[in-house]
Amino acid sequence: MIALKYIQPFSLKLDLRTGIIGPCNRYIQRRLSDMAGMYADHAGEQKALQGGDPVVYEVYQYDVPNDNGQLLIVTSVIHPGRIGQEYHMTKGHYHARRDTAEVYVGLQGQGYLLLCTEEGGSKSMPIEPGTITYIPPYWAHRTVNVGSEDFIFFGVYPADAGHDYGTIESDGFPMLLVERDGVPTLIPNPSHGRR
Ligand code: F6R
Ligand code: ZN
Repeated sequence: MIALKYIQPFSLKLDLRTGIIGPCNRYIQRRLSDMAGMYADHAGEQKALQGGDPVVYEVYQYDVPNDNGQLLIVTSVIHPGRIGQEYHMTKGHYHARRDTAEVYVGLQGQGYLLLCTEEGGSKSMPIEPGTITYIPPYWAHRTVNVGSEDFIFFGVYPADAGHDYGTIESDGFPMLLVERDGVPTLIPNPSHGRR
């Protein structure tokens, strides 16, 4: 058995309004240019890039050793907006270690969680403040802001989970979340699994 690194208990402060964790030792900002080709509307993507390459989302994480047994604490802030008809979203990923789960808790705004499996499973669920979602092992996950303000959620996941972005970059998700007549609408992704 490998011994866990012995660390001291700690507490952090989470600003429930902004999602910012203090102290925070890992901050990630993703602009549209960091998500090349992930939105279905490539002309819309080019237009948004020329219009200033918006910050789509930000992540505040507290890193501990990436050992089995440890947990990572994280908040994500997805800013409102659309690329074409598709709402701002995260890149989405499988955990590199597929047998690891994750919990998200909605803090602010209106969002959706999209999930899929490599066996063809697909699921979506709304997240609003107070919603707790459980992402089981083996499910890829992406979050989407369908509202007009920041969509903010808190998460906890195993520190050795890791992230596999490549599978989603090449296959996409089975469903797209688009605005139709002002309403968030799920439609099949015509290029799912085709790239
Ligand atoms: C961690 C996790 C979240 C996301 C974050 C950004 O496993 O699921 O903290 O990392 O919401 O999304 P991605 O990682 O897909 O860019
Ligand atoms: Zn995850």
